[in-house]
Amino acid sequence: QSFGRMETLIPTINRLQEVFLTVGAEIIQLPQIVVVGTQSSGKSSVLESLVGRDFLPRGSGIVTRRPLVLQLVNVPPLKERLKSENGNGIKQNAQNSYPGIKAEEWGTFLHCKNQIFTDFQEIRKEIESETNRGTGDNKGISPDAINLKIFSPNVLNLTLVDLPGITKVPVGDQPEDIEAQVQEMILSFISNPNSLILAVSPANSDLATSDALKLAREVDPEGRRTLLVVSKLDLMDAGTDALEVLLGRVIPIRLGIIGVVNRSQHDINTQKTLQDSLKDEQAFLQRHYPSLASRAGSRYLAKTLSRLLMHHIRDCLPDLKTRVTVLSSQYQAQLNSYGQPVEDHSATLLQIVTKFASDYCNTIEGTARHIQTSELCGGARICY
Ligand code: GDP
Ligand code: NA
Ligand code: MG
Repeated sequence: QSFGRMETLIPTINRLQEVFLTVGAEIIQLPQIVVVGTQSSGKSSVLESLVGRDFLPRGSGIVTRRPLVLQLVNVPPLKERLKSENGNGIKQNAQNSYPGIKAEEWGTFLHCKNQIFTDFQEIRKEIESETNRGTGDNKGISPDAINLKIFSPNVLNLTLVDLPGITKVPVGDQPEDIEAQVQEMILSFISNPNSLILAVSPANSDLATSDALKLAREVDPEGRRTLLVVSKLDLMDAGTDALEVLLGRVIPIRLGIIGVVNRSQHDINTQKTLQDSLKDEQAFLQRHYPSLASRAGSRYLAKTLSRLLMHHIRDCLPDLKTRVTVLSSQYQAQLNSYGQPVEDHSATLLQIVTKFASDYCNTIEGTARHIQTSELCGGARICY
């Protein structure tokens, strides 16, 4: 399962966000995930495999030239949406109903709000044209973000950010100070303490020269929110491997170091599917890194991110529980003041809300237990 599609997390988080709304607290702010690295290190490829759909422009040279802020939005499955549109299903709030949209998954852009994209190839084309609209078509860059939302029953409500890569020598219409401009753009996103930094470094270049890690360290010197992804394991020189790097013996990374194999340019040209790529990646890891195969690869990266999110949620739970308890006892006191028997409609309503609140406390406790015991938390080397 890819990360955006973690089945266990989706219902949990949806439920908790409902709780937060009910008690009038702010919705749990999940960290936004930002990819950082040199040009062509594989950032867009990594993001795509996390979302589990093909829709990002990828390729050699400068392809990502504006930040892409990708907001994943969890929606009910099409079947349920249709049912409620026909009026015979559960009533849904306006936010959750998307009348007229007959697709399971779709995308919209902020710059053309009313256009619904159900074909993910079209989403990629629109990112490309909008990139050109903002920067010209000669390799220019711009800090103006493209905002894309992807709606799906299979994603977490989560924001991912794809960024232009670090580059040193201006080409085409790029400004003389391209390196500084890109760095500033990256820093503006990763200095947000609510950003989880995915530093992507290719296995075929020395980790000590990693610009991604250098930038991450500037904003996160203790490494509390930086995860290192070592891409291109398949492209190392004969006779070398990344074992020492992956074991953290070259540069230790608190949250972990995860090696991946994305699709090569040839794979992109021949339209290899994400599915096949994940399968081949696993086979590659088994062959070349048997001792690490269960702790490497795109799927493991997805799992690790899920676990980090779980930990984040766990840290939010005590406060949430307090709020629900307070709310519940307020309602209870009010209820008691009505006396028995209760006829009043508003009293009935209060009763329901109180029941609601106590159910929610159970949900919260259940979630906390689930997080404690979940296999997602069993991994090594993570201390969040
Ligand atoms: P970005 O510029 O960092 O966003 O990198 P992209 O995701 O666009 O990838 C740049 C190029 O490297 C593309 O041609 C990809 O096919 C290729 N690439 C990325 N990751 C890997 C990998 O793990 N192995 C191989 N062989 N090629 C990769
Ligand atoms: Na690239
Ligand atoms: Mg890119």
